[in-house]
Amino acid sequence: MKDESKIVVAGRHPEKYEGAVNPPVYHASTIVSKTMAEWEDSRRRREAGERGVYYGRVGTPTSFALEDFVTELEGGDHARVFPSGIAAIGTALTAYLNAGDHILVADNVYGPCRRLCERFLARFGVEHSFFDPLDPGSVEGLFRPNTKVLYLEAPGSLTFEMLDIPRLAALGKAKGATVMMDNTWASPLFFKPFAHGVDVSIHAATKYLVGHSDAMLGVVSCTDAAWPPLAECVVDLGQCAGPDDVYLGQRGARTLAVRLERHQQTALALTDFFWSRPEVDCVMYPGHPRDPGHDLWKRDFTGASGLFGITLKPLPEAALRAFVDRLQFFHLGASWGGYESLMLVTHPNDMRSVSKWPYPGPTLRFHAGLEAAEDLILDFEAGFQQMRAAAA
Ligand SMILES: Cc1ncc(COP(=O)(O)O)c(C=O)c1O
Repeated sequence: MKDESKIVVAGRHPEKYEGAVNPPVYHASTIVSKTMAEWEDSRRRREAGERGVYYGRVGTPTSFALEDFVTELEGGDHARVFPSGIAAIGTALTAYLNAGDHILVADNVYGPCRRLCERFLARFGVEHSFFDPLDPGSVEGLFRPNTKVLYLEAPGSLTFEMLDIPRLAALGKAKGATVMMDNTWASPLFFKPFAHGVDVSIHAATKYLVGHSDAMLGVVSCTDAAWPPLAECVVDLGQCAGPDDVYLGQRGARTLAVRLERHQQTALALTDFFWSRPEVDCVMYPGHPRDPGHDLWKRDFTGASGLFGITLKPLPEAALRAFVDRLQFFHLGASWGGYESLMLVTHPNDMRSVSKWPYPGPTLRFHAGLEAAEDLILDFEAGFQQMRAAAA
């Protein structure tokens, strides 16, 4: 079955719900058994790790619908939903790391993930180190005998360097580490982590799966082999997501293919535009043929999403502000992946330690929304005009 068709059918069971196309939203904490035998059977199945409806926190048909969707589309064996992307990251890290272990992390990962390593995991005796995403040759030497997790994100969601995932995953496996990847940028549609050697895939479902900027959600999916520690940790830490948010996640997911196709087309048009502008130093988008990561992206990914970055040539602060404030479709916001365009002024060097971001001018991140590309380009042209006026 093609992915576009899986997106429509995966995780749906109208036959179980009187023909209703979508799964019901189970507002449930207590699940009752009528007899002792039923209760004992339910307890036995739960203790044996069988999936079932035992208690609201451990899953309902609403959460199973989204989990099955991600599992089928991404090609994994299991998935669990979380109340946010960072909750998904934190729980996944906690599941595979013990006091005295070491985690090796790409230097360009999502900032709060770095902080989890530097603050939270350090408090529990987990060592961390970072590797330069543009120097894959340096990674092997950074493994320690106690390295238990290799953590990747491709492309990095601030600076968009691509990683050679199959090569790094093979190296991580050879060293006995669990290979984990934040796959939010590509979504389960455009990158298949398990086919490329990854053991655990993480999604800030808040972004493209929800797709409408109206719910916080995370998903972790994994292989059979990686499942037991994750399943246990999810229960121990009491991770679950609210039924309405999970419902919004599975609803948004049904249009993932059409939305992402449009985000991609618009991002390509916008990155082409930025490459033509004299104010711009560099454009970061692996889907664009001029990007240094384009060949890796083309080899391993089946599409590019709507998130990309640019660096401007150095300019007065007032000129930058004039550009940003003039934009009408791009408001400043920390998130991305919704239907709307969005931007962020980023500071890459604040978020890395072993690699230096080489561009001296300001770095901006854009999410290409579903508006007409022509309107977005007109918006940027007006912004550049304002920038020139302010600089003069
Ligand atoms: C790449 C990436 N991973 C994880 C997260 C965390 O997701 P959430 O905001 O749902 O906690 C984000 C959020 O911006 C992100 O950009």
